[in-house]
Amino acid sequence: MRVLVVGGGGREHALCWALAASPLLTKLWCAPGNTGIAEVAECVAIGATDIAGLVAFARDKAVDLVVAGPEAPLTLGLRDACEEAGLRCFGPTAAAARLEGSKAFCKEVADAAGVPTAAWARFEDPAAARAYVRQKGAPIVVKADGLAAGKGVVVAATVAEAETAIAEIMESRIHGTAGASVVIEECLVGEEISFFALCDGTAAVPLAAAQDHKRVGEGDTGPNTGGMGAYSPPPAFTAALQEEVMARIIRPTLAEMARRGTPFRGVLFAGLMLTADGPKLIEFNVRFGDPECQALMLRLRSDLLTALLAAVEGRLDQVSLAWESQPSLVVVMAAEGYPSSPRKGSVIEGLEHAAQVPGAQVFHAGTARREDGALVADGGRVLAVCGTGPDLRAARDTAYAAVDAIAWPGGFCRRDIGWRAL
Ligand code: AMP
Ligand code: GLY
Repeated sequence: MRVLVVGGGGREHALCWALAASPLLTKLWCAPGNTGIAEVAECVAIGATDIAGLVAFARDKAVDLVVAGPEAPLTLGLRDACEEAGLRCFGPTAAAARLEGSKAFCKEVADAAGVPTAAWARFEDPAAARAYVRQKGAPIVVKADGLAAGKGVVVAATVAEAETAIAEIMESRIHGTAGASVVIEECLVGEEISFFALCDGTAAVPLAAAQDHKRVGEGDTGPNTGGMGAYSPPPAFTAALQEEVMARIIRPTLAEMARRGTPFRGVLFAGLMLTADGPKLIEFNVRFGDPECQALMLRLRSDLLTALLAAVEGRLDQVSLAWESQPSLVVVMAAEGYPSSPRKGSVIEGLEHAAQVPGAQVFHAGTARREDGALVADGGRVLAVCGTGPDLRAARDTAYAAVDAIAWPGGFCRRDIGWRAL
């Protein structure tokens, strides 16, 4: 099988790493890839949102399977364009990717499918949004309806904070057209879990769960990020909870999407809150999480490529996946200034020492090679340093031993990844 992975972050490095181990694989490309991915795949200089360029490359190279990492190419119709060109693509169509692309659409589908989720309302008029917030009171959650790179959500502790969020999103348009309308939601309280299921339009197979750390600062403080660390499995997410989520959230959503004529194929990522009333959906994403994917790939014992093919070919009813019971933990190392203004270009050394820590694995997210060969930071989240071990504490100690082997004065990480479970 000739496979093209689309994307260039830590998630895509983990996907390429897992695909490279497949007995079915004959050739692996990644567009655009990164310095670490180049060790397991041939990187090609095509941007992840250049749909025409990606499809032309895949046709030219007779690619058997295109695998989308991030949501942007999917919402832009990568799968649709692949299908038109007679190419197979893992990931949903643009119509099905609206589950992530529009928060209001996600909530409509959830309601129609009877999925437990926070009470909500959508507003195009800021005055009406403000009136609703005053009526409901705080805490309350204000979200830009469209894609805002994970930054369009404000969990407001007071009505004044919610009103400021409405003004910034709808009137100052700090997220551009994503803020043309807002979704305002009841605030859910509980443990937050990322759960992933592989879907083929009708059948779904559970992947695994992980817990992300979205805030930049220790103790879950400071601004939201793409994710500063993760571990899998989260002990709070029991086998019984997983079955409940499959039965009450994943399968009803698949049925509703199929009923609408837009079946969902790909990875359905359910952001969940484990509330006192049971698991509730916060939102859907239509892809693996980053850094959750890195934690999952370290635990997946089955062949990833076989599983993705079964999803593309509608054969998931015949598939079950084996997972390592040993936990994995990921520490994200970010460039100073992340998330607001990460500084690029600082030199990173010692990755070869980190690689020697038993049970450690380093995935690259935002790295580049300088002309003189030095490895430098080239993004916000730069490395995903992972550990596995017999228990979560051991996995954490391994990951931080690898972090400590890396010499990067221009970077930082959270020192408390896994704290909720430890
Ligand atoms: P989202 O982009 O929808 O995942 O939201 C970002 C973060 O905001 C989530 O990971 C939650 O921590 C928080 N959040 C979103 N919606 C709610 C909600 N209804 N109640 C409580 N927290 C929420
Ligand atoms: N880590 C959360 C996400 O990928 O959206």
